[in-house]
Amino acid sequence: MELIFLGHATALLAGSKTIIIDPFIKNNPKAAIPFDSIPKIDLILVTHDHFDHISDAIALASRDGATLVAVHEIATSPVVAEAKIEAVGMNIGGTCQKDGVSISMTNAVHSSGAGSPVGFVVSTDGKRIYHSGDTAYFSDMKLIPKLFGPLDVALLPIGGHYGMDVKQALLAASDLGARTVIPIHYNTFPAIAADPADLAKGYPGTVVLQPGERISL
Ligand code: NI
Ligand code: MN
Repeated sequence: MELIFLGHATALLAGSKTIIIDPFIKNNPKAAIPFDSIPKIDLILVTHDHFDHISDAIALASRDGATLVAVHEIATSPVVAEAKIEAVGMNIGGTCQKDGVSISMTNAVHSSGAGSPVGFVVSTDGKRIYHSGDTAYFSDMKLIPKLFGPLDVALLPIGGHYGMDVKQALLAASDLGARTVIPIHYNTFPAIAADPADLAKGYPGTVVLQPGERISL
């Protein structure tokens, strides 16, 4: 399978199913491709309801008949109900299976309009991917590989201001021990300026992807 970084915190997992995490495309100044070029999506995972994570989720779900997976309060919100899309609501600590993909919801230290902010561990095609969502560093991150197994990839914010900066992301990367760490959530807006080379210097498994770039897992 391939992981394609679409800019900001948006990641596309293209394997036996096509999964998008935190779709922010139309109004994303760093979007890699236009909305209409997004391939047909099966599953949409949203970590919280800030615009830079959720803004294209309903449009994509409506376009493709994709299933939205989010915290209970987002999945049952009036805007989701009105859109008549399929939504799976779950919560931190839970795991659900959908279309042969295992999706676990993890803690995130951040804020959210509806429900709690979360991260995801996605297991599919024999690979395990962690997307932390927007979060500060928290030391219980070290439990994530203990609970779910070794991580092939961790996507971690480094832009600071709204969550982890490089210093915290280095602690997170060390706790998680992921084979590959991909920095996200930086340089989209002036407030989250960061140099991903600083992460690469401190964590050898760092892979810096420009929006639109991909890695094979
Ligand atoms: Ni946020
Ligand atoms: Mn954000």
